[in-house]
This record gives sequence, structure tokens and C-alpha cells, in this order.
Amino acid sequence: MTQAVTSQVVILDYGSQYTQLITRRVREVEVYSILLPGDATFKRVFEENNPTAIILSGGPNSVHVKGAPSVPDGFWEECEKRQIPVLGICYGMQLIVHCLRGKVEGLGKGEFGRMPVVDIPTHTKLFDEDIEPQNVWMSHGDEATVLPDGFKCIGKSEQGCVVAIEHETKNLFGLQYHPEVTHSEKGMRTLKHFLFNIAKCERSWSMANVLEEQIQIVKEKVGETNHVICALSGGVDSCVAATLVHRAIGDRLHCCFVDNGLLRYKEAERVMEMFKNELHLPVDCVDITEKMLSELKGVSDPEKKRKIIGKEFIECFKEYKKTVEKKTGVVPKFLVQGTLYPDVIESCPPPGSDQKHSHTIKSHHNVGGLPKELGFELIEPLRVLFKDEVRRLGKIMDVPRNFVARHPFPGPGLAVRILGDVTENNALETLRLVDEIYINAIKEFGLYDEIWQAFAVHLPIKSVGVQGDQRSHSHVVGLRAITSNDGMTADWYPFEPKFLQEVSNRITNQVRAVNRVVYDITSKPPSTIEWE
Ligand code: XMP
Repeated sequence: MTQAVTSQVVILDYGSQYTQLITRRVREVEVYSILLPGDATFKRVFEENNPTAIILSGGPNSVHVKGAPSVPDGFWEECEKRQIPVLGICYGMQLIVHCLRGKVEGLGKGEFGRMPVVDIPTHTKLFDEDIEPQNVWMSHGDEATVLPDGFKCIGKSEQGCVVAIEHETKNLFGLQYHPEVTHSEKGMRTLKHFLFNIAKCERSWSMANVLEEQIQIVKEKVGETNHVICALSGGVDSCVAATLVHRAIGDRLHCCFVDNGLLRYKEAERVMEMFKNELHLPVDCVDITEKMLSELKGVSDPEKKRKIIGKEFIECFKEYKKTVEKKTGVVPKFLVQGTLYPDVIESCPPPGSDQKHSHTIKSHHNVGGLPKELGFELIEPLRVLFKDEVRRLGKIMDVPRNFVARHPFPGPGLAVRILGDVTENNALETLRLVDEIYINAIKEFGLYDEIWQAFAVHLPIKSVGVQGDQRSHSHVVGLRAITSNDGMTADWYPFEPKFLQEVSNRITNQVRAVNRVVYDITSKPPSTIEWE
């Protein structure tokens, strides 16, 4: 548990797509919550994490399937002994019923989507007053047909399925529906009632506390004399991490921004200016454009491109380490990384995947790929945070809004957005202009904050058009805009036709090299967000 919090909710993850959302919902009401894999040991759940309350998540399994995830031995006895309230959601509720010797059956009906809850008794512990009527979000095949001893049904679906149960004295509760999704009208209210009135959680999770605590941790770890380096990407995570570490150790932090020649329009200038003028944080800009582009010349294979970029970055970093050593007379011992919570969560693997845990870490992404032989110890002050929390943390450190709210940008930059050889056809220049027009239009139409990520892609094909009454044979660019929570899954953003028309006009009028604009309407999966 982080020292700054007095209450902690442990969420056991059985693989539902909504599990991260539960974690965030709890944090939104200022209670710290962490996700542990569904097969976490007794020791990990109770001794290492000392939960104030436990939530059992939903999941795709049936409790009857061989090897279906469950709770560790001694779980129920320990909850009773320590008086820890437990809320089971969907699969979590079925697990309660199944483990405590009730009956869960697959009757072949199933309930999916929005539906009303009925038959709520006047007095229940889990629901505060006037919770009825409410529509909720349901997604289940199996159902509880016989409740374990001491439990009562406190809500049914219109079809007659048991959708809410409680054991009043043992503080065990189950909801067949998902209170964490916004479609469950009073779900958040029930969750809050469970956290504050039943589990007596305290609101102790705030970004101000996190900031204070992390500054202290960094100070202690780095000590009085060591030096630290940080590679800034211009994205929100490294920017917030560096700002925090700078507050802790001042000018013993050395930041380097690598202009790898694959950045967006005026990006290096803009980032450097912000660090200098608004954050007063000294940054060395290392320009490796020439070397990078000469290495990338003639390379079209996406994986080869990524490898070359990674290798050049490491070379550059080795040099930077030497530069800092020369400047300070001390070999820098620590490296700051903007690792976030979704990167470290061990969640339940998708069924049938043969994996033990589905790690969301993408090793090829980011500075995370720096090899061990560089010999740094890591400082990861954002390791417990979700992206929206990082943004809030940035805000309280006065990181300018236009940086805090920035869309993510991949480490390999425009190289993964130019299909084929990045050095051919003036592709970098063309893409920079198109991307700038597109993003400016999104901002102008007030859509930037609704979209998780938007960018343009340069395609290695030409098509025929008419520009200025003449036949043209010019490039095609693709536009992509997606909504997402964490980049792991995504939906394409449904722009109004008027917006698309305007952007397409602007691009083809202002960028001579382009005579055709297409919009990408694929979700992830089956696509990825980037094109390479
Ligand atoms: P994909 O394309 O895998 O992208 O669906 C998911 C998210 O990750 C970003 N991305 C990267 N970020 N280095 C990074 O720092 C990379 O190599 C990289 N590749 C993809 C992508 O922009 C999206 O936000």
C-alpha cells in the first residue's frame, strides 16, 4: 500500500473487460484501489495489501469450467475474521454463490445489455433508499438459482433472474450486473454506498498526496549526491515524471530530448520552449536526425524500422550518459521512466490463451526497451497511476494544459505512420503538414479532448486526381481518430461529414503532394491504432 492512503480496495481480476474501469471508479471517489490477478495468493491479498474492502470482478468464465479462477484457500474465513466487506460483480457474484455452496446454473437464457432491476425489498443493506427503479447493464450466461445459507435476494431482473444478493451480517454482497458502467443508472451510487457506508473507506487518495509521497520517495532513493537522467519524449508521461523528479532533486536531474528526425511539425522547438519557459526545467536537445535518416534509408519493413530506431536511440543515450558524466564528474546512476499502472497490471489472461497473466507491457514501445547493460536503476514515479491521474498530477504541478492533455505519440514517431521508406517522396515533410492541418482542425472544432488519439498516415501509393484543372498523380493520406481508455482496444471516432469534408478540403488545397484523403474506420482489434 502506498503510505499516503488510509484505505485500500483490492480488486481481484477474473478477466472482465470492465475490471480496470472498476479500479478507476473507486479511485475517482478518492479511495485507493489496486488490481490483483484472480489467482493471487492469500498472502498477497491479505498480508501484503491489507484491504479495507474487496471487490471480485466479472470475467468470461463459468464457475463450472475446469480450472475456473477462484479465491485463495481461507479467503472467506479471513474476510469474516477481519470484517472485510466483499462485493462480487457478475462472475464475482457467481463465485460467492458457488464457493459458499449455493447453486449457479447455465439455463441457456442469458441476459445482455440494458435492463431494469425489479423486486427490490424496502430494506436492504447494499442499496440505500429509493434505488428502484433503475436500468442496469447486464452481461451474463449463468445465473444463481439457489442462494447459500444466510443470503437473501435483493433484486431480480425482469426475466426473474437473481441479480443482487446480500448476507447482511457477514457483509458479503453480489451484483449480477455491472455497477461500474455508466449504463447502470445508479451503479455508482451503490458502489459509493458499499465503499463509504458499509466498508467505511476513507477518502485518502488524492494527487496532492501522491505528489508529496513520490517526491519523498525519489529524494530518499536518490540520496544527496547521485545524479539522474530522463529521456523526454514530449508526451505527457515523461513530462510529468521529469517535472516531479525535478521538484525532488533539482538540477541533479538531467533531461534529454532526442530529435530523431521523425517528429511532428515544429515538435522539437515547441517541446524545448515549453520546458525552458514554462516549466523552467533545463533540457538538452540531442539532434540525431541525420544519422537516423541515413540508417533508415531504403528500409520498408516495419519491424526493421523499429529496430533501427531503437538501436539509434540507445547509442544516443550512451553518449548522453557520457556527456552528463563529463559535465558533473559523476556517473548518473538512475533513469526516470514514465511507466504507468496499465503497464504493470497483471490481469487475467483471455480464456484459452495458455498464458498465466496477460501483461500489457509492450516491450518494443518506448524507452522501456533500454538494455540492462546501460546500468541504470529505475525511478518510476507514475507506476501506480492511470493516465487521467497523471494528467491531474501534471495539472497540480502547473504543467501547461496543452501538454497535459496531449494525445499519445509513439516513440518511433512518424516512421510508423509512413508506410514504406520514410526517406522517400518527401514523405516526412508532407505528413507533418497534413498532420498539423488535421490536428488544428480537430482543436478548432472542439473535438480534441473527446478523441484519445488522432493522426495522419502517409501511404506509399499514388492515385489520379484533378488539381487546378489538371490531371494529377499524387499521394494518398489516411486520417485516423480513435476513442479508447488505455490504447489496448479502440473504436474509430465518428466525425460529422461536415468536419471530414472541411479537413479534406484544407489538406488537398494546402498540401500539393496530396490529392486524396481517406478516413480509417477500423476498430482495434482487428486493427492496431498505428498503421505499423
Ligand atoms: P498500437 O498501434 O499497438 O498502439 O495499437 C497502441 C498505443 O501505443 C502507441 N504506440 C507506441 N508508443 N512506442 C511508443 O511509445 C511505440 O513503439 C509504439 N507503438 C505504438 C500508439 O501510438 C498507441 O497510442
